[in-house]
Amino acid sequence: MHEIPTNALDVQHALKAHDESRQGEAYAPFALDPNQYRKHFYIESYGCQMNFSDSEIVASILNQHGFGATRNLEEADLVLLNTCSIREKAEQTVRKRLSEFRKVKEKKPGMLVGVLGCMAERLKSKLLEEEKLVDMVVGPDAYRTLPGLVEEAETGQKAVNVMLSRDETYADISPVRLDSNGVTAFVSIMRGCNNMCSFCVVPFTRGRERSRDDVSIVAECQDLYNRGFREVTLLGQNVDSYYFVHEDGRIVNFAGLLEKVALISPLLRVRFSTSHPKDITDEVLHTMARYENICRYIHLPVQSGSTRVLQLMNRTYTREWYMARVDRIREIMPDCGISSDIIAGFCTETEEDHQDTLSIMEHSRYDMSYMFFYSERPGTLAARRYADDVPDAVKKRRLQEIVELQNRLSRESNEQDLGKTFKVLIEGNSKRSDQDWMGRNSQNKVVVFPKGNLPLQKGDYVWVKVHDCTQATLLGEVVPS
Ligand code: SAH
Ligand code: SF4
Ligand code: F3S
Repeated sequence: MHEIPTNALDVQHALKAHDESRQGEAYAPFALDPNQYRKHFYIESYGCQMNFSDSEIVASILNQHGFGATRNLEEADLVLLNTCSIREKAEQTVRKRLSEFRKVKEKKPGMLVGVLGCMAERLKSKLLEEEKLVDMVVGPDAYRTLPGLVEEAETGQKAVNVMLSRDETYADISPVRLDSNGVTAFVSIMRGCNNMCSFCVVPFTRGRERSRDDVSIVAECQDLYNRGFREVTLLGQNVDSYYFVHEDGRIVNFAGLLEKVALISPLLRVRFSTSHPKDITDEVLHTMARYENICRYIHLPVQSGSTRVLQLMNRTYTREWYMARVDRIREIMPDCGISSDIIAGFCTETEEDHQDTLSIMEHSRYDMSYMFFYSERPGTLAARRYADDVPDAVKKRRLQEIVELQNRLSRESNEQDLGKTFKVLIEGNSKRSDQDWMGRNSQNKVVVFPKGNLPLQKGDYVWVKVHDCTQATLLGEVVPS
């Protein structure tokens, strides 16, 4: 087991809001003491939080093998792109970035370029043929072999490892926190996905679902708390199916894990993502309700509001089932925030199906949604079975209607909060002004308020009374607790 020095990446930087990570944005880690390491790597991450979290594992493995992180591409001996395949556009973004790297490599021929993550897994060695400048292709379960692959590539050979594993969880590797605000962190609790949603490439790129030992999860969260972090987000493609069986037969399910993490300290907030509507149990909802520090927020992707389309998507729930789960959440936790993922224009979607999506959004009153139009992914069930038959213009128009409705719902949800007082965890300066703090309430809404002369710092909890709002942000001021 490796111990990573905690100062390995002692960075202070405004965190990219984790919701942004889903928009396919990239970030690169900070430069560190350049003398501490023999060589330097530069990494950019695309896609979901899981990929960002994986980059922190990769950083840890590379640190152990003499590579330090740099934010300066020109200074790097090794350039890594941790990629996403979820939609065609995500792959196009990576290809564009690779062509930009080509120019850097022309000036610096010794520099190695590696593609990690889901695109590496989906395209395997085909990537080497398609993108001549790529030296290494490494799938999400093969990061432990990176140092060996780098050595191989250094001798001029192309290096590939895209083996998927049934048991790799990187449980013993302490992630190096890249680009951290020092307050909030992601913790992977499981990998892979066993659901076969027909539109989705993830089961092919991430392999079978496996849960990480709860003891190592709790230890990682405790360590984060000891280092001043005040919020952890437990990550998995389908967290509600977390299930770890100990050698003595003891079983820990997701509700059990949530409770263990919540018990670390009442000052440590716990969030999680993503919940599948078919698996979110009353036991989980009651556990959330029992602990004030388990945040009142559930990301519950609906994808479509039409039972017929949901069936084609292989989501295994109906419109009615979904609405009943939302009602149950509101019954057990009336103040719970709910957000969603929605796909417009899936195969065969009619105008009536689309109206069902709009009406389920109204019923669920989402605070926020990630909205996409359907992008066919090679090899998925939908690509093999159904024609991608909704014209692009129709997909885009429907998506636009979905976005407009969500904008209204978000604004209405924020207006409901005017005059309310929330406990806010301060994450750092607001984006607009260093005279204002930015934090989140339990429902995951961003709250911005003036610093005034109060002796506050990031990582502190404060009570903020909301007096104004925009569509995306609550504005308020500190009130006595
Ligand atoms: N495991 C998560 C989702 C991960 S992917 C879950 O089940 O909720 C994030 C989102 O991308 C999905 O919820 C879906 O809305 C969207 N998505 C996945 N495949 C897509 C595709 N082929 N086209 C458009 N959107 C897609
Ligand atoms: Fe994809 Fe469905 Fe698994 Fe989510 S639950 S990762 S949408 S297959
Ligand atoms: Fe993308 Fe892979 Fe995540 S396809 S969304 S990076 S699991």
